[in-house]
Amino acid sequence: MNILVTGKNGQLGSEINALSTQYSDFNFHFTDIEELDITDKNAIDNFFSLNKIDLIINCAAYTAVDKAEDDIIAANKVNNLSVRYLTEVAEQYYSRIIHISTDYVFDGKHYLPYKETDNTNPISVYGKTKLNGESHVINSKVPALVIRTSWVYSQFGNNFVKTMLRLGNERENIGVIGDQIGTPTNANDLAKACLDIASKTELWSKKNEIYHFSNLGICSWYDFANEIMKLSDINCKINQIETIDYPTKAQRPQYSVLNKKKITEQFGIDNFHWSDSLQKMIKAI
Ligand SMILES: NC(=O)c1ccc[n+]([C@@H]2O[C@H](COP(=O)([O-])OP(=O)(O)OC[C@H]3O[C@@H](n4cnc5c(N)ncnc54)[C@H](OP(=O)(O)O)[C@@H]3O)[C@@H](O)[C@H]2O)c1
Repeated sequence: MNILVTGKNGQLGSEINALSTQYSDFNFHFTDIEELDITDKNAIDNFFSLNKIDLIINCAAYTAVDKAEDDIIAANKVNNLSVRYLTEVAEQYYSRIIHISTDYVFDGKHYLPYKETDNTNPISVYGKTKLNGESHVINSKVPALVIRTSWVYSQFGNNFVKTMLRLGNERENIGVIGDQIGTPTNANDLAKACLDIASKTELWSKKNEIYHFSNLGICSWYDFANEIMKLSDINCKINQIETIDYPTKAQRPQYSVLNKKKITEQFGIDNFHWSDSLQKMIKAI
């Protein structure tokens, strides 16, 4: 199977790249904006005319959640229009698609883990553009699936874990939000889930489906920060603050825990408690 992985320099793209040697049946094409700008329809058409692609794993995205509030056109291009271009070319060349989306398609007013069938209602530009992107995948005429994930971190790139490690070594105290609840996701586990699903095409549903994947368990950013300090032996006090004390341009869902039953039952994907996966990442860096 020939697989195009977009966004190769991002957290998820880099993790898929690192795992790729374990999947010798697959022939990978890794691209980022320099090799294939997914907002450029001509570039996509040209790439597909030159390369036979059986599956697209779309890891490219505009992920600057606060910046997106003032940069709607750019966020919409990458998260929505580009996904339409990719689904159009997939239909032309009969490629499958795995597209990554986000917990930010929800408004966070739930009190139970979100199922794939729960109503969406994004409260940020980023969430709205990602939700619009999902619709092209779901409505495409080729076998395609959307995997929504949350609170992604990785040994590669910048993320909450690395910021906490840096601040923890610089300061005696840090204030971290305690009233936003979710589940962190080690991008390495998500990368493995994507590649395992790619190798089980016989289990793909006839109609296009949405799946949820994050690590197991529930925490606040405050709990997450405390665990990072504990696992790294950093003696920095984490003070619990409220969302109102840390104003950001974009609103975040207060509760965005994802229910993973569907992906586990359908594909038998391995998953781990978020603190165990965090330990794995901290050991790796
Ligand atoms: N990070 C999270 O906490 C989180 C949470 C939920 C869902 N997700 C979703 O998970 C997926 C992977 O996220 P991630 O954390 O790996 O994102 P990331 O680290 O920001 O990586 C995205 C990659 O896409 C590239 N890209 C941007 N515009 C592009 C374009 N026009 N053409 C080609 N490549 C382009 C980026 O390049 P530049 O860096 O140069 O822009 C970057 O290398 C995304 O769909 C994201 O929406 C992420």
